[in-house]
Amino acid sequence: MSKSPIGIGLLGMGVVGGGVASTLDQKRDQLTALIGCPLDLKGVLVRDAAKPRAQKLPHGILTTNAEDIFNNPEIDIVVELMGGQDPAFDYIRKSIDQGMHVVTANKEVMARHGPDLLLAAQDRNVQVLFEASVAGGTPIIAPLMRDLVANEIIGIRGIINGTTNYILTRMANEGADFDATLKDAQALGYAEADPTNDIEGIDASYKLAILATLAFRARVRDTDVFHEGITKLTARDFQYADELGYAIKLLAIANSSEDGVQARVYPALVPQDMMIAKVDGVLNAVEIEADLTGNLLFHGAGAGALPTTSAVLADVIDIARNIVSSVAPPPSLSLSDDVRIRSMLELETRYYVRLTTTDRPGVLAQVGTVLGDLNISIASAIQKEMDDQAKQAEIVLMTHRASEAAMQQAIQRLNALDVVAEVGNMIRVEEW
Ligand code: NAP
Ligand code: HSE
Repeated sequence: MSKSPIGIGLLGMGVVGGGVASTLDQKRDQLTALIGCPLDLKGVLVRDAAKPRAQKLPHGILTTNAEDIFNNPEIDIVVELMGGQDPAFDYIRKSIDQGMHVVTANKEVMARHGPDLLLAAQDRNVQVLFEASVAGGTPIIAPLMRDLVANEIIGIRGIINGTTNYILTRMANEGADFDATLKDAQALGYAEADPTNDIEGIDASYKLAILATLAFRARVRDTDVFHEGITKLTARDFQYADELGYAIKLLAIANSSEDGVQARVYPALVPQDMMIAKVDGVLNAVEIEADLTGNLLFHGAGAGALPTTSAVLADVIDIARNIVSSVAPPPSLSLSDDVRIRSMLELETRYYVRLTTTDRPGVLAQVGTVLGDLNISIASAIQKEMDDQAKQAEIVLMTHRASEAAMQQAIQRLNALDVVAEVGNMIRVEEW
């Protein structure tokens, strides 16, 4: 058994990289015992070398030149914690080409290029692991790749973005509007200065593409995932949802059937008594439906320096143990490339529709006719008087199951009615 240290090169030492650097130092003895040799930090790439850092580093290992990492023969495992597509993708690719193993938390790169990187790694006889790219500290990639491998995965449903779950929880609990809650989330450091990827559902769509690819052993690209964000939700949507017995959550859902794979991210009404409706704050939860195990729920921290460090180090330890015991990397995933991706228009579900209308006799009948003509059946309707002077009312409809294609047409036709001032929101209902 080799006792010489395994060299680690860190690309990025921000929130997560800082946690990894500190933990490598603080848990050095424990990690050495687990692996059979020490893990030595041999190089750390950052953008700004002058920035004050909380972590104590060995002299001379901080650099702003990526070549110092790739050309360092003492580095066995590159840990990419920079984020974003560029230059992270090139750096991961370069590490593989240099024969270095890679651990990454980068969902964007793994969603777009994961299968290609895994193949390149196989060619070079190295490993690329990415547990931290989805659900932070909550294990979900390894269970899909190892523990559940004898199952056929039927569906994935989850809350995989902590920032939006925090915003939605505050909106539900405090009756607050979206803009004010987002500002608070930014002040508290949960939402980034540019929150677009989180609030538009893009971050969740990257993560769902990764999960769906692993679960269905088919190449599901980020562009195959339909996504809609949370920016249109208002305090009134939460109030009506609550009256109707629902919570509102940004859900990531992927299903596989004979007709193909469908993957979608959007805010949805979920019955308040479902487990997923009770996942609050920055927490994540992923439910897996599999043929042998039935339903499984993975629930926990989806972000944060230490939870994410836990996932990164699990991957590092896995690779380091293989190096120590000279075990060849396991074969890469074999993925089907010709899976049919089902369009959102093929979805069938129930819908919540909130409309502002003229408040006079016959309005509900006109709305009902538009829906009826498209074979959409109303399950319930609540009418609230909103503005006496403007003679406007707010109507909230819940439909029976209907097709997405019909519902999208209905929204266009409702918007064109003289008696409809606006279709305030259309939210899909998810029950399982
Ligand atoms: P972060 O705090 O913004 O840190 C990024 C680090 O990368 C910084 O040290 C930065 O250098 C360095 N960096 C960025 N661009 C660089 C470039 N072009 N050249 C050299 N260095 C560069 O990011 P983070 O929150 O730790 O996230 C890292 C990764 O983990 C991302 O992929 C993220 O999606 C993922 N992740 C994060 C969390 C979380 O809780 N934060 C959870 C799960 C996954 P400077 O320090 O000099 O600025
Ligand atoms: N922005 C992400 C979230 C961080 O809010 O879940 C973890 O990937």
